[in-house]
Amino acid sequence: MGKALIAPSILSADFSAMGNAVKEIENCGADLVHCDVMDGVFVPNITFGIKMVKDIKPLTKLPLDVHLMIVEPERYLKQFIDAGADYLTVHYEACKRKVSDVLDEIRALGAKSAVSIKPDTPTEVLKDLIPHADMILLMSVYPGFGGQKFIENSIERLEEITKMIKESGLNVLLEIDGGVTEENAGKIIKAGANVLVAGSTVFKAQDKKATINNLKNA
Ligand code: DX5
Ligand code: ZN
Repeated sequence: MGKALIAPSILSADFSAMGNAVKEIENCGADLVHCDVMDGVFVPNITFGIKMVKDIKPLTKLPLDVHLMIVEPERYLKQFIDAGADYLTVHYEACKRKVSDVLDEIRALGAKSAVSIKPDTPTEVLKDLIPHADMILLMSVYPGFGGQKFIENSIERLEEITKMIKESGLNVLLEIDGGVTEENAGKIIKAGANVLVAGSTVFKAQDKKATINNLKNA
């Protein structure tokens, strides 16, 4: 099965000490830094934007995995990529333009392209997008907040997407986001996820290194 990549979400870090949080997760074995950008319109919460991505970029060697939870993300692709996003995720539900075109543009701007769906969006919409995406991000909670409970039917949804990716014959990562714990990581990886976002699980842990390691090997 192989190890999963772990992407701690800095949404659960102390925003007044963000630099330290990023360095700490890198030292504890994280593989990516998951940055949750929220606009208060697409989701009922507001976090941070381009400047945060730009300011943390020089502090870490880890790739920045920027998850845009904003309406019309296509208006800001270049700004986030110039700021240092290595993976840029847009929501299927948020794009005004054709999602495949938005993903192609992310690649043309030099980043890895990713598309996310919310828990109520059918997985079938992803089928035609797979050739345009380097990663699929499945939301396993309603986006907006850290610390929510994993929605159980996400396991079946992961299996459906895993099947689609396999059938495409393409090399596409499958990331899960929301409610990932040391307890459920094993079945999530078994269902085909190979990138695990973990916010509260990592940032609440006494021993972040052990927790990241346990998630990776679940
Ligand atoms: C939720 C965000 C997630 C969140 C995950 O809208 O997209 O990345 O930070 O937090 P946990 O792991 O605590 O559910
Ligand atoms: Zn996220």
